[in-house]
Amino acid sequence: MDSTAFWDGRARKLGHTGWADFATYCYDQCLRLKAIDKVLKDQKRHFRCALDFGCGTGDFSRLLARCSDFVIAVDIAEEVIRIARTRKMSSAITFTRFSSDVFENTFDVILSVTVLQHIVDEKEWKMIIDSMVNSLEEEGLLILLETFGSMTEPQEETVLRPLNVFLERVGSKGMTLLFQSNFHHPEIVPTKAFRWFRRAFPIRLLNRVYEQGSTAAGLVLSIISFGISAFDDGLMAKESPTKVLVLKKTKKRGES
Ligand SMILES: C[S@@+](CC[C@H](N)C(=O)[O-])C[C@H]1O[C@@H](n2cnc3c(N)ncnc32)[C@H](O)[C@@H]1O
Repeated sequence: MDSTAFWDGRARKLGHTGWADFATYCYDQCLRLKAIDKVLKDQKRHFRCALDFGCGTGDFSRLLARCSDFVIAVDIAEEVIRIARTRKMSSAITFTRFSSDVFENTFDVILSVTVLQHIVDEKEWKMIIDSMVNSLEEEGLLILLETFGSMTEPQEETVLRPLNVFLERVGSKGMTLLFQSNFHHPEIVPTKAFRWFRRAFPIRLLNRVYEQGSTAAGLVLSIISFGISAFDDGLMAKESPTKVLVLKKTKKRGES
C-alpha cells in the first residue's frame, strides 16, 4: 500500500492519524500538545511564517497559529487535509495537500510531529530534511517530535532511524541543536500517570463503549485525558526513543 492510501485509510477509519487505541490517542495527543506548546512558548518569539509538515488533522497547526502570522499546514493525504479543513479554527492557517513547491516559501519555524519516522523511502527522507533546512530563514527553527531507533525494515509505514544519523544530516546543513529532551512513548516508555490511566477500569470500560460507537463515551474519555494529563509531563529525564528536538539554522563556518 502506498503511504498516501495508508494515511487516508487511517483518517477515514479513525477520524485522525494517531494511535488506533482511542484512550491512548487522547492521552498521548494531550501530552504532545502540552510539550510542543511549552517548547514554542520557551522560544519567546513571534514568527512570520510557519510550516506544519505532516499536519494530520491540524492539532499542532493551531498551536503554531498562536505564535505566527501565517501557518502553512501540509499533509500528503487528501482525506486528512479534508478533515483538518472542517476543524479549522484560525484564519492564519492554510491547510493544503503536500507538494514540494511548499519549500519554495521561506519559514521562520518548521514543526513536524511524528512524520519523518513515517517516510520509509530513504531518498525521500533525505530530500525532505534537506528541503526543510534550505527553506528555513537564518535563525529559523526546526522543531521535531520523533521516535528514533534502529529499525531499518519498514513496519506499518514506520522506520525508526538512529538519532545520530538525523543529527549528522541536519548538522552538515548548518543546523545547531538548541534543545533535546526524552519524551513519553505510550508503548515503550509510558509515564506513570499514563500507565495508571490506561489500566483503570472506568477508562477501559469507556474505551470499549466508544469502540462500539458511542461518541458520548469518546467525549468523556477526551475530557478525562485532558484533566489527568494536565498533571503529567511527557518531557522526561528517563531515556526514551521518542525525543523533542529544537534546532536552529545558523550560518555555516566560512559563510558571510
Ligand atoms: C502520525 S501522523 C502525525 C500527524 C500530526 N503531525 C499529529 O501529530 O497530529 C503522520 C502524518 O504525516 C503525514 N505524512 C506522511 N508522509 C508524509 C510526507 N511525505 N509528506 C507530508 N506528510 C506526510 C501523514 O499523512 C500523517 O497525517
